[in-house]
Amino acid sequence: LNTIFVFYKFQIMLQPVSGFSKKTKDEKIDWLVSSYLNDDSASKKILKQYWNHNEKLQKLHDGFIENTISNYYLPFAIAPNFLINGALLPIPMVIEESSVVAAASNTAKYWLERGGFKAEVISTTKNGQVHINFYGDDVAIQTFFSETKSTLIKSISEIEKNMKKRGGGLLDIEFINTTNALEGYYQLHCTFKTNDAMGANFINTCLEEIAKTFESSSKLYADFISENEFPEVVMSILSNYVPECLVRAQVSCPVEKMATNGMDGKTFTTKFVRAIEIAKVEKRRAVTHNKGIMNGIDAVILATGNDFRSVEAGIHAYASKDGNYTSLTDAKIEQGNFIFSIEIPLAIGTIGGLTALHPLVKFGLSLLQNPSAKKLMEIVAVAGLAQNFAALRSLVTTGIQKGHMKMHLANILNYLEVTQAEREQAVVYFKDHAVTHSSVANFIKQLRK
Ligand code: MEV
Repeated sequence: LNTIFVFYKFQIMLQPVSGFSKKTKDEKIDWLVSSYLNDDSASKKILKQYWNHNEKLQKLHDGFIENTISNYYLPFAIAPNFLINGALLPIPMVIEESSVVAAASNTAKYWLERGGFKAEVISTTKNGQVHINFYGDDVAIQTFFSETKSTLIKSISEIEKNMKKRGGGLLDIEFINTTNALEGYYQLHCTFKTNDAMGANFINTCLEEIAKTFESSSKLYADFISENEFPEVVMSILSNYVPECLVRAQVSCPVEKMATNGMDGKTFTTKFVRAIEIAKVEKRRAVTHNKGIMNGIDAVILATGNDFRSVEAGIHAYASKDGNYTSLTDAKIEQGNFIFSIEIPLAIGTIGGLTALHPLVKFGLSLLQNPSAKKLMEIVAVAGLAQNFAALRSLVTTGIQKGHMKMHLANILNYLEVTQAEREQAVVYFKDHAVTHSSVANFIKQLRK
């Protein structure tokens, strides 16, 4: 290759690397540091500082993905005292954003004193599609599907044998004509139960086998042969949109017991309900409102080794299922009771994938008493509801900056490497002064004069 790449202001002249994945970890680092970082030994040190000294454990982590050169830590924390359907649980959370765990813990305690959280799984059906092109006769392909459906189902009997033993497997295959939306576009819409596994691999393996059988059977079908027009499989993949895999969580309590942050129960709950109404009608607010919910959800999803991107994608799509992106939570006051709830789709697992491999994930799941996937769905929904409660509770009373600034100040003080005495004075001073990096730095500078 003669191509020469010129990189912005450093004007580094580089050849593309070949065989990067085949290099050892040290070779990868050497190549990176010499090519992009002026052979800076400090960079190598940073990367290696995060290697685990237990070689076996490090190898395990290296193997999760390709081209691993180090580990990227996120805090693993606990929000204790969650009373869910009568059981008291500490919830493990992995997140980089300060205040999320404190907010979850405060909310857990608040609701512990008011009856706790109730949660229930509404449904657990997952789905995937074989997407098909066909430009022949509508009736012919529909008839072909009806005649071939049992063969398609039989073709995965070996693949779904174990899943079936555990009460799961393929539920149904539906043929959908989508030609109104896109010319020549049909689908095999397949539904599944995967029990305690997230089931992505299982579903995708089934779909690919069904697609193969569909295509090979079609080659022998008389109507297609006579017209010389055959269906073609475009792709086969599970869907992360899972509105039939739903969980609901709720809290409720008499309004007069809801006094908080210096506000009486009636004023607080009325403003709270109003905040939800706003999130229901105003997309700009709904996105931030739901982002706060995802603070809780993602943190538990990560701590329990699940796929937060699929959960995010599915939940946000669900938030716009009726055509407008809206709040995932609902609140109302009924006969003197404040009722606050969430309903979200969650396709997650407690067996398979990282759950069997990552020691901290195993630890997190054992803290949660090794829940079934259904139980974990309930816990995750509660974490989302709790996070939303914490955010709205602050927003409609004191504002969120009060709590955030405490953590912000602590982070700035850590950055400035202050002594314990300096920290204590700063905490007192910044109780009623605005926290910015420069105001804190100036304050510490004055102290040190
Ligand atoms: C910040 O991470 C989340 C909030 O913005 C959520 C909300 O506004 O509801 C506080």
